[in-house]
Amino acid sequence: MIDPFGRTVSYLRVSVTDRCDFRCVYCMAEDMTFLPKADVLSLEELERLCGAFIDLGVRKLRLTGGEPLVRKNVMSLVRGLSRRLGNGLEELTLTTNGSQLAKHAAELAAWGVKRLNVSLDTLDRDKFRTITRWGDLDQVLRGLEAARKAGIHIKINAVALKGVNDMEFDALIRWSHGLGMDLVFIEVMPMGEIGETRLDQYLPLSAVRTDLAQRWTLHESDYSTGGPARYATIAETGGRIGFITPLTHNFCESCNRVRLTCTGTLYMCLGQEDAADLRAPLRASESDELLIAAVHEAIGRKPKGHDFIIDRRHTGPAVPRHMSVTGG
Ligand code: 5AD
Ligand code: SF4
Repeated sequence: MIDPFGRTVSYLRVSVTDRCDFRCVYCMAEDMTFLPKADVLSLEELERLCGAFIDLGVRKLRLTGGEPLVRKNVMSLVRGLSRRLGNGLEELTLTTNGSQLAKHAAELAAWGVKRLNVSLDTLDRDKFRTITRWGDLDQVLRGLEAARKAGIHIKINAVALKGVNDMEFDALIRWSHGLGMDLVFIEVMPMGEIGETRLDQYLPLSAVRTDLAQRWTLHESDYSTGGPARYATIAETGGRIGFITPLTHNFCESCNRVRLTCTGTLYMCLGQEDAADLRAPLRASESDELLIAAVHEAIGRKPKGHDFIIDRRHTGPAVPRHMSVTGG
Protein backbone atom coordinates (compact mmCIF):
# COMPACT_ATOMS: atom_id res chain seq x y z
CA MET A 1 0.00 0.00 0.00
CA ILE A 2 1.63 3.22 -1.18
CA ASP A 3 -0.12 6.56 -0.77
CA PRO A 4 -0.15 9.52 -3.21
CA PHE A 5 2.88 11.02 -1.43
CA GLY A 6 4.98 7.88 -1.85
CA ARG A 7 4.65 6.77 1.77
CA THR A 8 4.33 3.03 2.34
CA VAL A 9 1.55 2.13 4.75
CA SER A 10 2.80 -0.73 6.92
CA TYR A 11 1.29 0.10 10.29
CA LEU A 12 -2.33 -0.34 11.34
CA ARG A 13 -3.79 0.93 14.59
CA VAL A 14 -7.08 -0.60 15.59
CA SER A 15 -9.34 0.96 18.19
CA VAL A 16 -11.15 -2.17 19.43
CA THR A 17 -13.54 -0.09 21.54
CA ASP A 18 -14.01 3.63 22.05
CA ARG A 19 -15.08 2.94 25.63
CA CYS A 20 -12.77 3.39 28.58
CA ASP A 21 -12.76 2.90 32.34
CA PHE A 22 -11.04 6.28 32.73
CA ARG A 23 -12.18 9.78 31.70
CA CYS A 24 -8.88 11.63 31.23
CA VAL A 25 -9.52 15.36 31.21
CA TYR A 26 -7.64 16.03 27.95
CA CYS A 27 -9.28 13.07 26.21
CA MET A 28 -12.94 12.91 27.14
CA ALA A 29 -15.77 14.87 28.67
CA GLU A 30 -17.04 13.26 31.86
CA ASP A 31 -20.41 12.48 30.28
CA MET A 32 -19.04 11.06 27.04
CA THR A 33 -21.37 9.52 24.48
CA PHE A 34 -19.93 6.46 22.82
CA LEU A 35 -20.44 4.84 19.44
CA PRO A 36 -23.72 2.88 19.33
CA LYS A 37 -23.08 -0.72 20.40
CA ALA A 38 -25.06 -2.01 17.43
CA ASP A 39 -22.50 -0.46 15.05
CA VAL A 40 -19.49 -2.12 16.64
CA LEU A 41 -17.81 -4.92 14.69
CA SER A 42 -17.52 -8.32 16.28
CA LEU A 43 -14.05 -9.51 17.27
CA GLU A 44 -14.20 -12.03 14.42
CA GLU A 45 -14.91 -9.22 11.97
CA LEU A 46 -12.07 -7.15 13.37
CA GLU A 47 -9.74 -10.13 13.02
CA ARG A 48 -10.77 -10.63 9.42
CA LEU A 49 -10.20 -6.94 8.67
CA CYS A 50 -6.76 -7.04 10.29
CA GLY A 51 -5.93 -10.16 8.33
CA ALA A 52 -6.76 -8.40 5.07
CA PHE A 53 -4.50 -5.50 6.03
CA ILE A 54 -1.67 -7.91 6.83
CA ASP A 55 -2.15 -9.53 3.42
CA LEU A 56 -1.89 -6.02 1.95
CA GLY A 57 1.44 -5.27 3.66
CA VAL A 58 0.77 -4.27 7.25
CA ARG A 59 3.76 -5.38 9.35
CA LYS A 60 2.96 -3.74 12.64
CA LEU A 61 -0.39 -3.79 14.34
CA ARG A 62 -1.38 -1.92 17.48
CA LEU A 63 -4.60 -2.49 19.39
CA THR A 64 -5.79 0.66 21.11
CA GLY A 65 -9.04 2.21 22.28
CA GLY A 66 -10.51 3.73 24.32
CA GLU A 67 -9.09 1.09 26.56
CA PRO A 68 -8.57 -2.10 24.55
CA LEU A 69 -8.47 -4.38 27.59
CA VAL A 70 -12.01 -3.43 28.68
CA ARG A 71 -13.50 -4.98 25.55
CA LYS A 72 -15.03 -8.31 26.48
CA ASN A 73 -13.01 -11.28 25.22
CA VAL A 74 -10.39 -9.07 23.60
CA MET A 75 -7.77 -11.73 24.35
CA SER A 76 -9.38 -13.97 21.74
CA LEU A 77 -8.54 -11.30 19.16
CA VAL A 78 -4.97 -11.10 20.45
CA ARG A 79 -4.70 -14.86 20.20
CA GLY A 80 -6.09 -14.86 16.67
CA LEU A 81 -3.75 -12.11 15.51
CA SER A 82 -0.76 -13.77 17.14
CA ARG A 83 -1.11 -16.54 14.55
CA ARG A 84 -0.04 -14.02 11.93
CA LEU A 85 3.18 -13.16 13.78
CA GLY A 86 6.08 -14.35 11.64
CA ASN A 87 3.51 -14.93 8.92
CA GLY A 88 3.24 -11.43 7.48
CA LEU A 89 2.99 -9.61 10.79
CA GLU A 90 6.22 -8.54 12.50
CA GLU A 91 4.88 -6.90 15.62
CA LEU A 92 1.68 -7.06 17.64
CA THR A 93 1.36 -4.49 20.38
CA LEU A 94 -1.14 -2.51 22.45
CA THR A 95 -1.64 0.92 23.93
CA THR A 96 -3.33 0.62 27.30
CA ASN A 97 -4.06 2.66 30.41
CA GLY A 98 -2.80 -0.29 32.46
CA SER A 99 -5.91 -0.70 34.61
CA GLN A 100 -6.51 -4.30 33.48
CA LEU A 101 -2.89 -5.23 32.91
CA ALA A 102 -2.34 -7.19 36.11
CA LYS A 103 -4.98 -9.61 34.84
CA HIS A 104 -3.78 -9.89 31.26
CA ALA A 105 0.00 -9.30 31.17
CA ALA A 106 1.08 -12.95 31.31
CA GLU A 107 -1.36 -13.95 28.59
CA LEU A 108 -0.34 -11.04 26.38
CA ALA A 109 3.27 -12.15 26.66
CA ALA A 110 2.25 -15.72 25.86
CA TRP A 111 0.60 -14.50 22.64
CA GLY A 112 3.78 -12.81 21.49
CA VAL A 113 3.24 -9.25 22.68
CA LYS A 114 6.76 -8.00 23.40
CA ARG A 115 6.16 -4.30 23.86
CA LEU A 116 3.37 -2.22 25.39
CA ASN A 117 2.63 1.48 25.56
CA VAL A 118 1.15 2.37 28.92
CA SER A 119 -0.35 5.81 29.48
CA LEU A 120 0.62 7.39 32.78
CA ASP A 121 0.90 11.12 33.33
CA THR A 122 1.71 11.37 37.03
CA LEU A 123 3.00 9.36 40.00
CA ASP A 124 0.90 11.32 42.47
CA ARG A 125 -2.20 9.36 43.55
CA ASP A 126 -4.48 12.37 43.96
CA LYS A 127 -3.32 13.98 40.77
CA PHE A 128 -3.77 10.70 38.93
CA ARG A 129 -7.35 10.65 40.13
CA THR A 130 -7.84 14.26 39.05
CA ILE A 131 -6.43 13.68 35.57
CA THR A 132 -8.13 10.35 34.88
CA ARG A 133 -11.26 11.21 36.93
CA TRP A 134 -11.93 7.50 37.55
CA GLY A 135 -8.49 5.87 37.65
CA ASP A 136 -6.57 4.22 40.50
CA LEU A 137 -2.80 4.69 40.32
CA ASP A 138 -1.95 1.64 42.43
CA GLN A 139 -3.92 -0.62 40.14
CA VAL A 140 -1.93 0.68 37.16
CA LEU A 141 1.36 0.25 39.02
CA ARG A 142 0.43 -3.37 39.78
CA GLY A 143 -0.33 -3.84 36.10
CA LEU A 144 3.05 -2.43 35.13
CA GLU A 145 4.78 -4.76 37.52
CA ALA A 146 2.96 -7.76 36.08
CA ALA A 147 3.95 -6.71 32.55
CA ARG A 148 7.60 -6.28 33.52
CA LYS A 149 7.57 -9.68 35.22
CA ALA A 150 6.17 -11.18 32.04
CA GLY A 151 9.19 -9.78 30.18
CA ILE A 152 7.26 -7.16 28.20
CA HIS A 153 9.16 -4.00 27.34
CA ILE A 154 7.24 -0.92 28.41
CA LYS A 155 7.06 2.58 27.08
CA ILE A 156 5.33 5.07 29.32
CA ASN A 157 3.30 7.72 27.47
CA ALA A 158 2.85 10.93 29.42
CA VAL A 159 0.79 13.79 28.05
CA ALA A 160 2.56 17.03 29.00
CA LEU A 161 0.07 19.20 30.87
CA LYS A 162 0.93 22.74 31.83
CA GLY A 163 0.81 23.32 35.57
CA VAL A 164 -0.37 19.75 36.15
CA ASN A 165 2.53 17.36 35.67
CA ASP A 166 5.33 19.58 34.34
CA MET A 167 6.91 19.81 37.80
CA GLU A 168 7.09 16.00 37.87
CA PHE A 169 9.04 15.32 34.70
CA ASP A 170 12.33 14.71 36.53
CA ALA A 171 10.62 12.26 38.87
CA LEU A 172 8.98 10.47 35.93
CA ILE A 173 12.38 10.16 34.23
CA ARG A 174 14.03 8.70 37.34
CA TRP A 175 11.17 6.31 37.98
CA SER A 176 10.72 4.99 34.45
CA HIS A 177 14.42 4.65 33.71
CA GLY A 178 15.01 3.07 37.11
CA LEU A 179 12.62 0.31 36.05
CA GLY A 180 14.07 -0.02 32.54
CA MET A 181 11.11 1.65 30.81
CA ASP A 182 11.23 4.26 28.06
CA LEU A 183 9.39 7.52 28.71
CA VAL A 184 7.67 9.48 25.97
CA PHE A 185 6.10 12.91 26.34
CA ILE A 186 3.15 13.86 24.14
CA GLU A 187 1.75 17.27 23.28
CA VAL A 188 -1.95 17.56 23.94
CA MET A 189 -3.91 17.49 20.68
CA PRO A 190 -7.14 19.39 19.97
CA MET A 191 -9.31 16.35 19.29
CA GLY A 192 -12.92 16.20 20.38
CA GLU A 193 -14.95 18.37 22.73
CA ILE A 194 -13.83 17.92 26.35
CA GLY A 195 -15.97 20.54 28.02
CA GLU A 196 -13.04 22.91 28.57
CA THR A 197 -10.32 24.55 26.50
CA ARG A 198 -7.03 22.82 25.85
CA LEU A 199 -5.29 26.19 25.73
CA ASP A 200 -4.83 25.91 29.49
CA GLN A 201 -3.37 22.38 29.18
CA TYR A 202 -1.07 22.80 26.20
CA LEU A 203 2.65 22.73 26.89
CA PRO A 204 4.99 22.86 23.87
CA LEU A 205 7.59 20.10 24.14
CA SER A 206 10.26 22.32 22.60
CA ALA A 207 10.16 24.24 25.90
CA VAL A 208 10.16 21.02 27.94
CA ARG A 209 13.24 19.77 26.16
CA THR A 210 15.13 23.03 26.72
CA ASP A 211 14.20 22.87 30.39
CA LEU A 212 15.23 19.21 30.80
CA ALA A 213 18.58 19.93 29.14
CA GLN A 214 19.45 22.25 32.01
CA ARG A 215 19.54 19.33 34.42
CA TRP A 216 20.08 16.25 32.25
CA THR A 217 22.59 15.42 29.53
CA LEU A 218 20.50 14.60 26.46
CA HIS A 219 22.10 12.81 23.52
CA GLU A 220 20.14 12.82 20.29
CA SER A 221 19.35 9.22 19.32
CA ASP A 222 18.33 7.70 16.02
CA TYR A 223 16.34 5.00 17.83
CA SER A 224 12.87 4.59 16.34
CA THR A 225 9.96 2.23 16.89
CA GLY A 226 8.36 3.19 13.61
CA GLY A 227 6.25 5.81 15.37
CA PRO A 228 6.46 9.60 15.38
CA ALA A 229 8.50 9.94 18.61
CA ARG A 230 11.98 11.43 18.38
CA TYR A 231 14.28 10.00 21.02
CA ALA A 232 17.19 11.09 23.13
CA THR A 233 19.18 9.13 25.68
CA ILE A 234 19.89 10.59 29.07
CA ALA A 235 23.50 10.11 30.11
CA GLU A 236 22.74 10.16 33.85
CA THR A 237 20.17 7.34 33.70
CA GLY A 238 21.17 5.47 30.55
CA GLY A 239 17.46 5.51 29.65
CA ARG A 240 15.55 6.85 26.70
CA ILE A 241 13.08 9.71 26.48
CA GLY A 242 10.96 10.50 23.47
CA PHE A 243 8.99 13.49 22.28
CA ILE A 244 5.80 13.30 20.24
CA THR A 245 5.20 16.78 18.91
CA PRO A 246 2.12 16.94 16.70
CA LEU A 247 1.94 20.70 17.29
CA THR A 248 5.47 22.11 17.47
CA HIS A 249 6.89 19.76 14.86
CA ASN A 250 4.71 18.10 12.32
CA PHE A 251 5.99 14.60 11.52
CA CYS A 252 3.54 13.72 8.76
CA GLU A 253 6.15 13.41 6.02
CA SER A 254 7.22 10.04 7.40
CA CYS A 255 3.72 8.80 8.30
CA ASN A 256 3.37 5.04 7.70
CA ARG A 257 0.02 4.38 9.35
CA VAL A 258 -3.74 4.30 9.06
CA ARG A 259 -6.33 3.88 11.79
CA LEU A 260 -9.36 1.66 12.04
CA THR A 261 -12.23 2.30 14.44
CA CYS A 262 -14.26 -0.42 16.15
CA THR A 263 -17.11 0.27 13.73
CA GLY A 264 -14.93 -0.41 10.70
CA THR A 265 -14.25 3.17 9.66
CA LEU A 266 -10.76 3.74 8.31
CA TYR A 267 -9.16 7.10 9.02
CA MET A 268 -6.14 7.86 6.91
CA CYS A 269 -4.99 10.63 9.26
CA LEU A 270 -5.51 11.29 12.97
CA GLY A 271 -6.00 14.98 12.32
CA GLN A 272 -8.37 14.86 9.34
CA GLU A 273 -12.03 14.00 8.95
CA ASP A 274 -11.80 12.08 5.69
CA ALA A 275 -12.56 8.38 6.19
CA ALA A 276 -13.63 5.22 4.41
CA ASP A 277 -16.27 2.77 5.54
CA LEU A 278 -14.92 -0.79 5.50
CA ARG A 279 -17.83 -2.36 7.33
CA ALA A 280 -20.12 -2.46 4.28
CA PRO A 281 -17.57 -4.15 1.96
CA LEU A 282 -16.55 -6.48 4.81
CA ARG A 283 -20.13 -7.63 5.31
CA ALA A 284 -21.07 -7.65 1.63
CA SER A 285 -19.14 -10.80 0.84
CA GLU A 286 -17.25 -13.72 2.35
CA SER A 287 -14.31 -13.04 0.07
CA ASP A 288 -12.07 -10.03 0.60
CA GLU A 289 -12.16 -8.58 -2.91
CA LEU A 290 -14.54 -5.68 -2.22
CA LEU A 291 -12.78 -4.97 1.04
CA ILE A 292 -9.35 -4.85 -0.59
CA ALA A 293 -10.64 -2.53 -3.31
CA ALA A 294 -12.09 -0.23 -0.63
CA VAL A 295 -8.77 -0.18 1.25
CA HIS A 296 -6.81 0.68 -1.90
CA GLU A 297 -9.27 3.43 -2.73
CA ALA A 298 -8.87 4.84 0.80
CA ILE A 299 -5.06 4.72 0.77
CA GLY A 300 -5.26 6.67 -2.48
CA ARG A 301 -6.88 9.47 -0.49
CA LYS A 302 -4.42 9.56 2.40
CA PRO A 303 -3.92 13.28 3.08
CA LYS A 304 -0.53 14.92 3.25
CA GLY A 305 -0.88 15.65 6.95
CA HIS A 306 -2.60 17.41 9.80
CA ASP A 307 -2.17 20.92 11.06
CA PHE A 308 -3.19 21.10 14.68
CA ILE A 309 -3.09 24.55 16.21
CA ILE A 310 -3.76 25.59 19.78
CA ASP A 311 -3.62 29.30 20.49
CA ARG A 312 -5.90 32.12 21.56
CA ARG A 313 -7.68 32.15 18.24
CA HIS A 314 -7.89 28.34 17.99
CA THR A 315 -9.24 27.09 21.29
CA GLY A 316 -11.68 24.46 20.02
CA PRO A 317 -11.10 20.99 18.59
CA ALA A 318 -9.41 20.74 15.17
CA VAL A 319 -11.45 17.58 14.57
CA PRO A 320 -14.71 16.72 16.35
CA ARG A 321 -13.61 13.09 16.90
CA HIS A 322 -12.11 12.16 20.24
CA MET A 323 -8.76 10.36 20.41
CA SER A 324 -10.61 7.37 21.88
CA VAL A 325 -12.43 6.79 18.57
CA THR A 326 -9.36 6.47 16.37
CA GLY A 327 -6.97 5.38 19.07
CA GLY A 328 -3.68 6.71 20.38
N1 5AD B 1 -3.90 14.75 23.04
C1 5AD B 1 -2.77 14.05 23.28
N2 5AD B 1 -2.76 12.80 23.76
C2 5AD B 1 -3.94 12.25 24.03
N3 5AD B 1 -4.24 11.05 24.51
C3 5AD B 1 -5.57 10.94 24.58
N4 5AD B 1 -6.16 12.09 24.17
C4 5AD B 1 -5.16 12.91 23.82
C5 5AD B 1 -5.12 14.23 23.31
N5 5AD B 1 -6.23 14.94 23.09
C6 5AD B 1 -3.17 10.10 24.84
C7 5AD B 1 -3.37 9.22 26.02
C8 5AD B 1 -2.50 8.06 25.70
C9 5AD B 1 -2.41 8.05 24.23
C10 5AD B 1 -3.04 6.88 23.62
O1 5AD B 1 -3.03 9.21 23.77
O2 5AD B 1 -2.95 9.76 27.22
O3 5AD B 1 -1.23 8.17 26.24
FE1 SF4 C 1 -9.17 6.36 28.47
FE2 SF4 C 1 -6.78 6.73 27.33
FE3 SF4 C 1 -8.75 8.51 26.96
FE4 SF4 C 1 -7.62 8.31 29.34
S1 SF4 C 1 -6.61 8.94 27.46
S2 SF4 C 1 -9.83 8.42 28.93
S3 SF4 C 1 -7.18 6.17 29.48
S4 SF4 C 1 -8.73 6.42 26.26
